[in-house]
Amino acid sequence: MTPVLEVAHLRKTYGKTVAVADLSFTLAPGGALGLVGESGSGKTTTARMLLGLEKPDSGDIQVCGRPLTEAPRGRPARLARAKAVQIVFQDPYLSLDPRLTVRAALDDVLRLHGHPDRPARVRELLDQVGLGEREAGALPRALSGGQRQRAAIARALAVEPDVLVLDEAVSALDVSIQAQILNLLADIRRESRIGIVFVSHDLAVVRYLCDEALVLHRGVVVEHRGMEELLRDPREGYTKLLLASVPHAGWDPEEIAERRRAL
Ligand SMILES: Nc1ncnc2c1ncn2[C@@H]1O[C@H](COP(=O)(O)OP(=O)(O)OP(=O)(O)O)[C@@H](O)[C@H]1O
Ligand SMILES: [Mg+2]
Repeated sequence: MTPVLEVAHLRKTYGKTVAVADLSFTLAPGGALGLVGESGSGKTTTARMLLGLEKPDSGDIQVCGRPLTEAPRGRPARLARAKAVQIVFQDPYLSLDPRLTVRAALDDVLRLHGHPDRPARVRELLDQVGLGEREAGALPRALSGGQRQRAAIARALAVEPDVLVLDEAVSALDVSIQAQILNLLADIRRESRIGIVFVSHDLAVVRYLCDEALVLHRGVVVEHRGMEELLRDPREGYTKLLLASVPHAGWDPEEIAERRRAL
């Protein structure tokens, strides 16, 4: 099966700072990879390269066997890239236009992509992310943090991308809202073949959704293993440190195990 995402020997430097040293991984359809590391470890730089927002110094990125076009020229190339990879940020205002209602934002993306039945697709998306009529007609500022992330997720899913990147997408939310959004993402995983790259500094959150985790430290991959295995027996001191800093509040290990079995 062709991987949805294939990253080979990515490298990005900013002057003397090596943000990402030599990053390689493969993501199968329906897979979810956690990208973990402390602040400054290169997670967002990686996410931005996956989106084509940042040009790697070297290495390549393939989505469903096709090279990701950097700086696509012309409308068809831009639309094709939008269909390849979409992102949800920690701050929904980076994903959502503050002047557009949720419905208008979704309609806008669909129109740009020439969708044949926009009203039906908007309803389907709202339904999928659990937003009702009131939220659909609201501006982002009139929504709660969790609702805004649902809207950002709906917008990202609108064009059925092959890969969804989430950069600290639940980090700013309360634990109970985090759990709701993670459940939503787990549902999306189950119902589609989308590949998920889930960026977070918080292993408690990553383990909820991901099969495998890639641990970054100053741009270098220190471990890349199955989630269960990594949690049971972290090899690197750095990973142990990350695990030790995991906040336990509200996270029942049994519930997590059950959730993962259901995926
Ligand atoms: N545009 C830039 N110019 C210069 N240096 C940058 C730039 N973007 C990132 N860096 C540097 O690259 C390194 C990796 O940053 P990055 O934002 O990828 O980390 P991160 O893992 O996302 O951190 P955080 O958890 O705080 O979001 C850091 O040392 C950062 O200072
Ligand atoms: Mg970051």
